[in-house]
Amino acid sequence: MRHLLTLDDMPIETIRKLITRAIDFKLETPMPCFDQVYAANLFFENSTRTKCSFEVAQRKLQMQVIPFDAQTSSIQKGETLYDTVKTMEAIGIDVVVIRDRADAYYADLIGSVNLSIINGGDGMGNHPTQALLDLMTIYEQFGQFEGIEAVIVGDVLHSRVAHSNIKVMQRLGMKVQVAKTALWAPYEDATVPTVALDEVISDVDIVMLLRIQHERHTQSYDTHDFLNMYGLTTKRSQQMKSTSIIMHPAPINRNVEIAEELIEAPNSRIFTQMTNGVFMRMAVLEYVLEGWKKDDK
Ligand code: CP
Repeated sequence: MRHLLTLDDMPIETIRKLITRAIDFKLETPMPCFDQVYAANLFFENSTRTKCSFEVAQRKLQMQVIPFDAQTSSIQKGETLYDTVKTMEAIGIDVVVIRDRADAYYADLIGSVNLSIINGGDGMGNHPTQALLDLMTIYEQFGQFEGIEAVIVGDVLHSRVAHSNIKVMQRLGMKVQVAKTALWAPYEDATVPTVALDEVISDVDIVMLLRIQHERHTQSYDTHDFLNMYGLTTKRSQQMKSTSIIMHPAPINRNVEIAEELIEAPNSRIFTQMTNGVFMRMAVLEYVLEGWKKDDK
């Protein structure tokens, strides 16, 4: 069984192949057919992009997609995640995409279930397909990773997107920095410089913004005026290089981490990231299901 849980143990060569394959899918290469594969998307935390783009990816690959709604599932009657996934296995599901609020929810499942698991986000842990689609977007823009400089702005401490992205970007030779705020504890990683956004904004290639993750906070923070103090205002954006881009995994808190008028600015790649998510998730599904593929169309 092949899974995708984190990128930490994925060889760089595999990451590069996934990016190439996702770009192929975007260019409408012949699509493989997985019409004998049954897929289910088990989301126990809210999602728009990840859940819907996985479903589009599955349908483009002609999979049989079995609807699953956590709110009407037997989880509401006390069934465990383990028993839910074992049920999926028992009824013939081949691949599940899971999002859960617990960090590393998959630890109890690996080795005990006979289906492929793709991590759609675990608590504050990892969001590997988001990181992969972000890398695809960066590669499309710059044609390389080595030497590309990014500053990550926002709620890095509580963000699984940041945790997945920082490590893999460094492995690919990017220079990653985190913008400081006075709101929460600094991101603790000696390899990641903490900087003031105003000091680096004119140098970096990528300003990557993150949503403030209120649902993961154990105390309340005063985010009044966050935009002017720490976020990407129009005035700050005017200091970006002409070749630099804005990224954000979304959902966006408009006028909190980013000024509303920048979301669809010419140098924003926010909606491109979402588009790329479909093609990267097709590449990931094909990767975990290697061996299932029928003839290309
Ligand atoms: N970026 C992301 O994971 O969005 P959703 O929470 O809508 O899936």
